[in-house]
Amino acid sequence: MKICMIGTGYVGLVSGACFSELGNDVICSDIDSDKIEKLNNGKVPIYEPGLEEIVKRNFTQGKLKFSSDISLSIKKSDIIFICVGTPTNKKTNQANLKYVYSVAKRIKKNLNKYKVIVNKSTVPVTTGDKIEKILNTRKNKNKFDVISNPEFLREGEAIRDFLYPDRVVVGTNSNRPNKIMKNLYLPIIKKSNRYFNTSRRAAELIKYASNAFLATKISFINEIANLCEKINIDVKDISAGMGLDERIGGRFLRAGPGYGGSCFPKDTKALLSTARKFKTNLSIVKTVIKSNSDRNKLIINRINKIMKNKLKNKKISFLGVTFKAGTDDVRESPALTLIPSLVKRGANLHYYDPTGKKKEFKNKKIKFCSSTKEACINSDLIIIHTEWNEFKQLNFKKLVNKPNFKIFDLRNLYSFSKMKSNKLNYFRIGI
Ligand code: UDX
Repeated sequence: MKICMIGTGYVGLVSGACFSELGNDVICSDIDSDKIEKLNNGKVPIYEPGLEEIVKRNFTQGKLKFSSDISLSIKKSDIIFICVGTPTNKKTNQANLKYVYSVAKRIKKNLNKYKVIVNKSTVPVTTGDKIEKILNTRKNKNKFDVISNPEFLREGEAIRDFLYPDRVVVGTNSNRPNKIMKNLYLPIIKKSNRYFNTSRRAAELIKYASNAFLATKISFINEIANLCEKINIDVKDISAGMGLDERIGGRFLRAGPGYGGSCFPKDTKALLSTARKFKTNLSIVKTVIKSNSDRNKLIINRINKIMKNKLKNKKISFLGVTFKAGTDDVRESPALTLIPSLVKRGANLHYYDPTGKKKEFKNKKIKFCSSTKEACINSDLIIIHTEWNEFKQLNFKKLVNKPNFKIFDLRNLYSFSKMKSNKLNYFRIGI
């Protein structure tokens, strides 16, 4: 099939590359001509395991093309995916839809034959209706269907999530686009039967409800961890014991520094603003957002307690700044608020991240180090923030090379009893 992805960001590029891998002719287009030029020169602008290989292979075979001529890309294609950003408007907390609507206007001008217009951007319920309204001129009659097909790609696992999805959700009440989409996804759904067709509005809401539910699960276990810390119980045992119940499931029950990233914070807020618009009280989602933003203060308090309120001039080594492992993304990462808070309290902060995030902080008291070793030498406190594999088996005594240092593990990577029997001052979440 001839496909065009409008917006060659994370979702557009991953999905476009994977569709070409499945044998389709794909054009990834974007208004950012620099980005397109780089891609045409073989440079993949984002870090996602396995992506570069797929992009290069399909580009060489001519199945994947990159173009900044969006109008031509639309004209050449039968299926148009809208994959542009929907950032949160800071004042209103609503998803900003100007990029989505400007793409819709562009499509409206270039409908030279019947096309399926697929919205993959995460958009509030009823956005599909508005896109349809923009396209609906007399000239365009019967020349398009607007449908919703939300993405559920985790950063760092996006290729696997795309090729082996838990489900493919397609929102449309019309047979014609549904058949086309089923056919497009056939290679990845034929074994699992995980194609779910529903209404367009329902598909839009499934995306938000899923992310809000996962954010709730994380916030729930984080609050249980707070309780565990008071009563000498290990939250890891609670997660394991709860997770064995198949109705609950063990995934997304890891206590940590709070959820971050480009989706959960943005989507929970946008869902709340949709609820407000339709005069519905989503009190659980509201509480989850508050619980996650309060987490920062709780962690700072715990650090103060660990350090007996003496942070001034102490060397803190911060391991990992990305919001999770397997990505170079720092958006809404808890590190971005934790690090400045510690520096404000007088600490000298040395941080290291395997993806080399050098320029994240402007303050002179925050120093980027190029290795774990450089960050940890002579440290008073090591904070493990991101669960990178290379932080999972560290020889702390050798790294720090001085007595009485402390370790605070925000990802519960080490065995509490082993660390204690090795006589390390080890602290972690939920115990
Ligand atoms: C998420 C959704 O999983 C994906 O389906 C959606 O389409 C986009 O948003 P992503 O943002 O890449 O994906 O990250 P994810 O792996 O879901 O983690 C989100 C945050 O939750 C991270 O900060 C992570 O560290 C945190 N998390 C996750 C926990 O704290 N505990 C867990 O058990 C799981």
